[in-house]
Amino acid sequence: MTVTIVGSQLGDEGKGGVVDLYGDAADVVARYQGGDNAGHTVVHDGTKYKLSLVPSGAVRGKVGVLGNGCVINPKTLFDEIDTLRERGLEPDVRVAERAHVILPYHRTLDGIEEAEKDDLAAGTTKRGIGPTYEDKAGRRGVRVGDLLDPDALRDRLEYVVPQKKALAENVFGTETGEEFDIDHLYETYREYGERLADEGMTVDCGRFLQERIDAGENVMLEGAQGTSIDIDHGIYPYVTSSNPTAGGASVGTGLGPTVIGQGEVVGIVKAYLSRVGTGPLPTELGGVEGQTPDYDANEGAGEDEEELATYIRDEGGEYGTVTGRPRRVGWLDMPMLRHAARANGFTGLAINHIDVLADLDEVKVGHSYEFDGTEILTMPPTTEAWGRCEATFTSFDGWPDVDWTTVAEDGYDAIPENARTYLEYVAEELDAPIYAVGVGPGREETVVVENPYE
Ligand code: GDP
Ligand code: IMO
Ligand code: MG
Repeated sequence: MTVTIVGSQLGDEGKGGVVDLYGDAADVVARYQGGDNAGHTVVHDGTKYKLSLVPSGAVRGKVGVLGNGCVINPKTLFDEIDTLRERGLEPDVRVAERAHVILPYHRTLDGIEEAEKDDLAAGTTKRGIGPTYEDKAGRRGVRVGDLLDPDALRDRLEYVVPQKKALAENVFGTETGEEFDIDHLYETYREYGERLADEGMTVDCGRFLQERIDAGENVMLEGAQGTSIDIDHGIYPYVTSSNPTAGGASVGTGLGPTVIGQGEVVGIVKAYLSRVGTGPLPTELGGVEGQTPDYDANEGAGEDEEELATYIRDEGGEYGTVTGRPRRVGWLDMPMLRHAARANGFTGLAINHIDVLADLDEVKVGHSYEFDGTEILTMPPTTEAWGRCEATFTSFDGWPDVDWTTVAEDGYDAIPENARTYLEYVAEELDAPIYAVGVGPGREETVVVENPYE
């Protein structure tokens, strides 16, 4: 059977940790979209692993597959595999031949286009994700399978590179270097192809996974990003360029929707919101310069709110792993979660980070929005309309900080009562049962209520 793990908000909900937790019962862990824009944390034997491309299951000896819906930067892939090997692990990673390849010019163009977009910039990770998916849709992309076939690779590069070079030079007026040089790209990527072939890493993803399922094995499908940054269901244009929603698990692996649908779809919820990037955020607390629209650093959002935002940010470690930039934070947004529950059809929920909110006097939740004078319970379809929504808050009594490891050992009833009231409100509103509750970053700091494989 399959268990699909989906982010229900804006990314960084703790998907890696849940994959690690439930992955024990899985034989194969496959990613179905995104690329090295992701950052999934797994804490194993006290060591923290931050994976951007290799599926989280690889840390525990599972077969990791990068599905056809992913975009692959071979350099990141091999760097990550080599680093894991240096740390004593033996990651077994397979890559779909149908997956598209991120080339150096995609990264360059990502940076140029972001700078050009001004207010419409999403604050991308500049990994070339968007430009690679553009080329996929434009039928001018390079696929993993092409890296194994030098003639096909050469043909593709000869067609596409002059266009990209002209775009960079003539439209955006930038100077270009070896990242737009056909011979250089050909040699470098042909070598990546050789390594993929030598290590027997490429697969026909759908067939590979279906055969494992038919043999009675368990497959876990690891989503990256989250529902509200999905290209179709998210806050367009402040989104990523793929489908993190559960439908993406079918398209992005080659397993039929009925196969995915017979399994479980677990929504990962962070008990508050965090956001790396731009665009509106109705339940935001305080603000962050350069990300919060129209944020005035001198004015701020009021001392109390800024203080609360800083508290949650510090307790939750909500700072960019690469840049150290503060992330935007906010209260839980229920219209966003109702939208996610419908778009993904969650069969269960893992709600993380309730420890971060401990010791607050009150915990608020955006229960609904006031939109042009009426109350609405789910997100409007345009981001402009979403920006006009004002959250209507419900307040919960806070819960104390306790020894969370003991709570995790003792089980659900050991969670402080006020926190349980909060959790049960969320589960009821989303009409999905709680499978797990995250009470700390470690795997042992999780209250397991239900194992979807059992
Ligand atoms: P992902 O992208 O969804 O896999 O999430 P990230 O790994 O980017 O970010 C989640 C961060 O929160 C990581 O540093 C995790 O170790 C940490 N984390 C996960 N669950 C919990 C939790 O329940 N409580 C706390 N305090 N931290 C958590
Ligand atoms: P994980 O898997 C949080 C955001 C970026 C930007 C937008 C588009 O760790 O949850 P992109 O580089 O994808 O074109 O950027 O999406 N973003 C994420 N935010 N977590 C992620 O991944 C993200 N991946 C992309 O900040 O706003
Ligand atoms: Mg992350």
